[in-house]
Amino acid sequence: MSYSDRLTEAEFAAFRPNAEVVRYLEATRERLGVKRDEMNVLDWGSGRGEYVCWLRDAGYNAFGAEIRREAADRGEDLLKAHGHDYGRVITTLSASGETDLPPNFFHFVFTHYVLEHVADLDAVTREIARVTVPGGCGFHVYPGKLRPIEPHLFMPFVHWLPKNPTRKWAIAACLACGIEPKWDRLAAASFGRKAQEYYDFVLNETFYRPMREVRHSFAKVGLVVTPVAAEHPALRRLSVLPSSLKRVVGLAVTLFQTVEILVRKPPASEFTRVEATDAMR
Ligand SMILES: C[S@@+](CC[C@H](N)C(=O)[O-])C[C@H]1O[C@@H](n2cnc3c(N)ncnc32)[C@H](O)[C@@H]1O
Repeated sequence: MSYSDRLTEAEFAAFRPNAEVVRYLEATRERLGVKRDEMNVLDWGSGRGEYVCWLRDAGYNAFGAEIRREAADRGEDLLKAHGHDYGRVITTLSASGETDLPPNFFHFVFTHYVLEHVADLDAVTREIARVTVPGGCGFHVYPGKLRPIEPHLFMPFVHWLPKNPTRKWAIAACLACGIEPKWDRLAAASFGRKAQEYYDFVLNETFYRPMREVRHSFAKVGLVVTPVAAEHPALRRLSVLPSSLKRVVGLAVTLFQTVEILVRKPPASEFTRVEATDAMR
């Protein structure tokens, strides 16, 4: 299987959502006191739509936003087979990064391994802020900037290097040692072409940022970011440790492994109607 193939029923049967996404989604639902079918959820960077299909099957009013129509289209058959209206629940972005989704509508907006692929982060945070209901939340999971292994190429440290020929040489060195993701479309490619394609990918499609930059981008549009890696259930057994040490472990996980942030849009001071159009129900 590959992300460039159509999503099959067998693959979807094996799909399991990230447990933390579901945990924070449910925590937000409980806090807001809305029923599942009233819970408007947006998967930003929905790819082939696995999350959207899973969430709709589970009863949530879920939607997806994707920058690449061809990626979204690979999930069209599966969404339709599950009785979901593909054209209505999956939206693609305009050239300037906007969607046609209604403002102040979504109780929960999440990204799962997307922010590290976003070239224009401010455009994404602006649109997420626009469509989130006051009092609503977001949850974002993406690889830490200093993760030792580049998670797409499986090559150590190459993404720590500047985006210049140094990085290309490091990629070529890994390739010479037999370390590579073995993309199907490059199966018959020469060494030089593979090195170039892997380099072009990390150059044009990955953007590892420090946490302060991501936090600042959300803050500029009025959203409040809380890092929550230290709250991960796997770290709960550390509850015997003093909280300062727990914070250090959380920081190390965020830097070297996976970033998990909770984002909140402060409630409006006055009652704000959720501006749902009939088409969104
Ligand atoms: C690694 S895939 C993850 C797909 C899905 N979230 C998942 O976890 O399976 C990253 C997705 O983000 C999409 N993407 C990249 N930049 C984006 C942007 N600015 N806005 C929306 N989607 C974007 C890509 O097209 C791709 O489908």
